[in-house]
Amino acid sequence: MHLYNDNPTLLDVPHQQMKEEQQGEVFFKNYPQQVEDPSGKHFYIESYGCQMNFSDSEIVASILAEVGFKPTRSLELADLILVNTCSIREKAEETVRKRLRVFDAMKRQRPGTLVGVLGCMAERLKSKFLEEERLVDLVVGPDAYRDLPKLVATAEDGDKGINVFLSREETYADISPLRLDSNGVSAFISIMRGCDNMCSFCVVPFTRGRERSRDAFSILAEAQELYERGYKEVTLLGQNVDSYKWTNPETENLVNFAHLLEMVALVAPDLRVRFSTSHPKDITNEVLHTIAKYPNICKYIHLPVQSGNSNVLERMNRTYDREWYMERIEAVRQIIPECAISSDIIAGFCGETEEEHQDTLSMIEFADYSMSYMFFYSERPGTLAARKYPDDITLEVKKRRLQEIINLQSQVSYGHNQRDIGKVFEVLIEGDSRKSDQDFCGRNTQNKMIVFPKVAGYKPGQYINVLVKAASSATLIGEAAI
Ligand code: SAH
Ligand code: SF4
Ligand code: F3S
Repeated sequence: MHLYNDNPTLLDVPHQQMKEEQQGEVFFKNYPQQVEDPSGKHFYIESYGCQMNFSDSEIVASILAEVGFKPTRSLELADLILVNTCSIREKAEETVRKRLRVFDAMKRQRPGTLVGVLGCMAERLKSKFLEEERLVDLVVGPDAYRDLPKLVATAEDGDKGINVFLSREETYADISPLRLDSNGVSAFISIMRGCDNMCSFCVVPFTRGRERSRDAFSILAEAQELYERGYKEVTLLGQNVDSYKWTNPETENLVNFAHLLEMVALVAPDLRVRFSTSHPKDITNEVLHTIAKYPNICKYIHLPVQSGNSNVLERMNRTYDREWYMERIEAVRQIIPECAISSDIIAGFCGETEEEHQDTLSMIEFADYSMSYMFFYSERPGTLAARKYPDDITLEVKKRRLQEIINLQSQVSYGHNQRDIGKVFEVLIEGDSRKSDQDFCGRNTQNKMIVFPKVAGYKPGQYINVLVKAASSATLIGEAAI
């Protein structure tokens, strides 16, 4: 999952430009916007992994702020250091362990500082964490954040605080997230938690528990509040947003994802609505028609294919095949012709033959993805694949296949972007471009980043028409057309 802003995080660098070892192992430092006040107790939080984790860190921040902790960007000022962790690939866990070494050293110099591990790795390793990482004081799973104040108090008394209970109900619906590292223009709204799919490679169902959908009215209220505070874009988040389902207890009316999208789109015509992630098995024509109907629902779908081969998809337990996926792409093209589609791809899954790998390459061309997040398979303990299939593709072959996938996607993205030259797009200005404070950057509805020289009178949070003059595989370059 992906963060769309111009902050200096790795995540907004398209994968084809990233070094292989960086892929997917993205982290954010959550910087609060306010000027820091050194009095009182402070927490510092670092988040790794997907947008859900980032969004969860904002819930954690809100819970801690309620009990008097202030957010800080300075490790030196922190009384409580938190790491919101990811288990999706081995590399993600290694990155966190390295970071914990750094915090260990700090703790030795400043006894009394507490270190807590949150999120998916906390859930996967549970109390093993306390044995393996002796200097960790808190281990808190993704459904136990309400318990943080109590657990912190326990740790302050010198005991270890642990809660890794997974809930069937928790959605943190009533908690108003404290927006960290925000550009004041776009924000995430978590609409569901957990995942009931059992993709054989994936650790998420084990670390996040059962799927549950959040009260639709609390989602609407959050979108409304953000809009009133000047935000112009919300991204509805879930591991599988298309299976969103919430029944109004008063009317017994069922709200599905298409209804929810429509409700959020109606908050304001100039509030853009995005969503992630869609599962190819669940994305319905009803959802596609809703996207087509509202100009403020962005014409962009992240529709991870994982593999282009039906046998591999079966081993992955994705519950669709190549033909089904292609039909869904055709449906998107027919119902929303201007829609961009992106993907997640895994190279070298168990038993993948050279021919099966070729099917993934041909799928990239068929689907004409605007971009993809690409990984090589990393076996995760306890998953279906780890129990059922040997991880039999050598690292060398995995890396070579991944490189072929990256090279092809890079060409396809370049072609996709070249076709935008000469077009005018409405861009939501997010801020200064990364390279120059003379330029703005922002995205068009297809989620493509456009960089263009600043124009007097315009500021972040405003819409502006931009004519595209040039394009690389990652970015469009333009100038204002006003
Ligand atoms: N819910 C989303 C995916 C969340 S995980 C979906 O179903 O599309 C993000 C991506 O990480 C996945 O789409 C997959 O491409 C990748 N991934 C998950 N487990 C992996 C593993 N064991 N090895 C390599 N990549 C993996
Ligand atoms: Fe993992 Fe599959 Fe659920 Fe996505 S849908 S989180 S890949 S199990
Ligand atoms: Fe997200 Fe990583 Fe957990 S991708 S759900 S933080 S395992």
